[in-house]
Amino acid sequence: MTALQITGLEYAYLGRSVLKRVDLTVGTGEIVALVGPSGCGKSTLAHVAAGLMTPKSGHVVAGYHRHAMIFQDPALLPWATAAGNIGFSLRLARVPRAERPARIAQAAAAAALEPGDLAKYPVELSGGMRQRVAIARALAVRPDFLFFDEPFTALDVALRRRMQDLVIETCASGRLSGLFITHDLFEAARIAHRVAVLDTHGAGVRGHRVVPGAPGARSETMVQDWVNAALGRDPLFRHIHDVDERQIA
Ligand SMILES: Nc1ncnc2c1ncn2[C@@H]1O[C@H](COP(=O)(O)OP(=O)(O)OP(=O)(O)O)[C@@H](O)[C@H]1O
Ligand SMILES: [Mg+2]
Repeated sequence: MTALQITGLEYAYLGRSVLKRVDLTVGTGEIVALVGPSGCGKSTLAHVAAGLMTPKSGHVVAGYHRHAMIFQDPALLPWATAAGNIGFSLRLARVPRAERPARIAQAAAAAALEPGDLAKYPVELSGGMRQRVAIARALAVRPDFLFFDEPFTALDVALRRRMQDLVIETCASGRLSGLFITHDLFEAARIAHRVAVLDTHGAGVRGHRVVPGAPGARSETMVQDWVNAALGRDPLFRHIHDVDERQIA
């Protein structure tokens, strides 16, 4: 079963080609981490795969029912409270009004938000809290596919781990598949079943590696050893921390 199938994808911004011949599959119940140097096209790929942008060529076939997205920038509605922001996604998903308060409370608790935070406006929340509202907003609609674009970068280490565990648990229940973009190979190896590497210039997925064991069942040492081996010995991961010269110029 396939949750997401991307074939021969090509995308160009104003004629400048960013993605070429990208093939990527995410199985049902699978979390695939996508890594690659800054500027290689990861965010572009997530936007195109989620249907927010139209590819120049290629196909995206979605086998899931409902997706949600969590991006590095929480992009909350400034005029709505935290509860209002989460509720807005429920309204768009046509969840009956009477069910919304319970769904908001449940999603907020899952994202480690205090009930008191729900009445606050984005401007009154810290960066990490805003990010957790974005996470709660995505979870509240009970998606079966999640696009993550470096979602936990703004969080401190403890909270980041808690949010990773939340993803791992939600996925282990068999309800969730996802594409998880991250710069952090340790995070990738902790959360994902498989890690795919996007070419430095977006010219296809260079390869992928299955991380042994199930997410959540891997010990800290196993994850760290896998990362050390990947970075130390596996040519596939050699360039993932390169910085794209186009961004420095
Ligand atoms: N709206 C846009 N218009 C024109 N070019 C863009 C636009 N967004 C991104 N690009 C370019 O497309 C390329 C890929 O960008 P993208 O944001 O997908 O990279 P990324 O892999 O997500 O990088 P990072 O790891 O830094 O988030 C970059 O060269 C970037 O400058
Ligand atoms: Mg990006």
